[in-house]
Amino acid sequence: MERLISLEEALVYDRKRTRERYREYVNPGLVSMMALLDFDKRFTRAEGVKVWDSEGKEYLDFLGGYGALNFGHNPPVVVEALRRIEGVPNILQASLNPLAAALAENLATVTPGDLSISFFCNSGTEAVEAALKMARLYSGRSRILFCRNSFHGKSFGSLSVTGRDKYKKPFSPTLPDCSGVEYDNLDALEKHLAGEDVAAVIVEPIQGEGGIMVPRTGYLKGVRQLCDKYGVLLIMDEIQTGMGRTGEYFACQHEGVVPDIMCLAKSLGGGMMPVGACIALSKVYKKAYGSMDKCLLHTSTFGGNSMAMAAGIASVEYMVKNRLDKKAAQLGEYALERLRGMKGKYPLIKDVRGRGLMIGIEFHSGEGSLLDRVSGGAASKLGREYMGALVAGELLNRYRIITAYTLNNPNVIRLEPPLVIEREQMDYMLDSLERTLSENKGALSMMVSSVKSSLVGKVKKK
Ligand SMILES: Cc1ncc(COP(=O)(O)O)c(C=O)c1O
Repeated sequence: MERLISLEEALVYDRKRTRERYREYVNPGLVSMMALLDFDKRFTRAEGVKVWDSEGKEYLDFLGGYGALNFGHNPPVVVEALRRIEGVPNILQASLNPLAAALAENLATVTPGDLSISFFCNSGTEAVEAALKMARLYSGRSRILFCRNSFHGKSFGSLSVTGRDKYKKPFSPTLPDCSGVEYDNLDALEKHLAGEDVAAVIVEPIQGEGGIMVPRTGYLKGVRQLCDKYGVLLIMDEIQTGMGRTGEYFACQHEGVVPDIMCLAKSLGGGMMPVGACIALSKVYKKAYGSMDKCLLHTSTFGGNSMAMAAGIASVEYMVKNRLDKKAAQLGEYALERLRGMKGKYPLIKDVRGRGLMIGIEFHSGEGSLLDRVSGGAASKLGREYMGALVAGELLNRYRIITAYTLNNPNVIRLEPPLVIEREQMDYMLDSLERTLSENKGALSMMVSSVKSSLVGKVKKK
């Protein structure tokens, strides 16, 4: 028999071995990237907002799985739900799954308006694929309008409506008939809608990977009105903003907007199971897929499996019972106020924005600054492109706080902690950030310090 690695062996891999095996078998480039700022700790345990490394050191997770951990790491209610269904058939397509029926009904209850029929899949990008296909089938039209700077996923359909060339260009040509329009600009949108071929507009209520971009009040309502005026479907991507994150169950509720199709994923699986959902108005779903000959036009082997559905049922119930949306609204307001205060004090902060516990801190790139003049070459390039990453490195290596920069804008650090976070934990994060900024007034010293603590970490490990 071939020599295979057992689960027991894998569970005790140290950082060195994990790095080596990753370099050989998973993603060599990622190993180098993580090592740059000493990001790849060997984390061995996680609970709520806390994570522990193999040396027993405690960290606070302010990254929150990019919005997939609204209920914290290993939320007991979700773990319990998964235990509860042990022995139940997980995948049995020859029948209808009562757990899928129940989760779909609960989603119809908590989502706004008449959104009612759910298609279940396994990720955000799949939820977007489902929405795009449904829009084309429903309308008989092909064009999809998306926003510049958006992020909807990396499979071909969702990539085609993602407004970031860095991810798209290497794979071009992407889907035809997808047009980018400026975010938060109703006039630009209307110009594109005037053509007769538009099936749908897809929009994030707050652009997450784009750098936590909050549109002006009235924008989402305006998009809804324009879609109604031109008979075009509105797809709301709530994959990152949904499940209580921004202070409402779903961010479109801040403006009382009901989309025709909503995409969900991330925290719908309670941070335990990969679950995606595409929820549509009944009339939209029925026209697209309602008949027997069309009901299997779009499917997924694992979509709607029992474990995923049990995790979804537990997650939605946990959010509603504990009104985590309200908690996010209150604590988010508090954090934003303190951060805005810091912006006035520390010139390195360019902007602070967000809603609920979806917060972005944008840093000045350092271009034309001391950083540029003194270091000139590679160092200034790093600072220019990755100031957010440098601050994240400081927070991790000095204060044991996990954060990350946004994909489309590396100068923005995002704060998306689990919604179960305590006020004291938020204060610790804010105090640590303030200390980082006050002790590192110059961008250069911040970088030096960051690299230094990374090097110290490396020396200690040897
Ligand atoms: C708004 C939005 N849509 C879609 C996706 C893609 O989700 P997934 O990574 O589960 O495919 C993401 C992921 O970050 C997202 O933030």
